[in-house]
Amino acid sequence: METLKGKTAVVTGGNSGIGYATAKELKQQGATVIITGRRKEAVDAAAAELGVTGLVADQGNLAAIENLADTVSTTFGKVDILFINAGVLGGAAIEQATEAVFDQVMDISPAQNW
Ligand SMILES: NC(=O)c1ccc[n+]([C@@H]2O[C@H](COP(=O)([O-])OP(=O)(O)OC[C@H]3O[C@@H](n4cnc5c(N)ncnc54)[C@H](OP(=O)(O)O)[C@@H]3O)[C@@H](O)[C@H]2O)c1
Repeated sequence: METLKGKTAVVTGGNSGIGYATAKELKQQGATVIITGRRKEAVDAAAAELGVTGLVADQGNLAAIENLADTVSTTFGKVDILFINAGVLGGAAIEQATEAVFDQVMDISPAQNW
């Protein structure tokens, strides 16, 4: 059943994993879906597989976030559903994390985005 028909959904980090699965479900529910990621080839491939719009945007870069928001606003007019999913795991316990890894994780952190 298409319960999300007429709704626009943005999934950051939608080219793999949890974001990809969520984008697939939102699309199946009838939403117009936009996915993002840093790697253009991966974004384009996932968007083609899912039948959604793919936009390249680094959520750790403020200018890229603003550009994404402008593009989505201009093209789609509104956002009904926003899944701030993009992120990376540090790969180490906090007491072993380097400052560079901590900064990378926090730069992409959902709290910094949108
Ligand atoms: N799986 C778990 O057990 C688990 C546990 C706790 C938290 N999480 C969090 O849940 C989220 C999804 O996890 P997942 O396992 O599905 O991860 P995943 O398969 O590695 O997918 C991460 C997605 O985020 C994108 N991404 C990473 N950095 C980005 C950036 N700077 N800007 C835009 N997109 C970016 C990646 O695309 P590009 O590489 O193309 O940018 C990819 O699409 C992440 O935030 C992760 O930290 C996952």
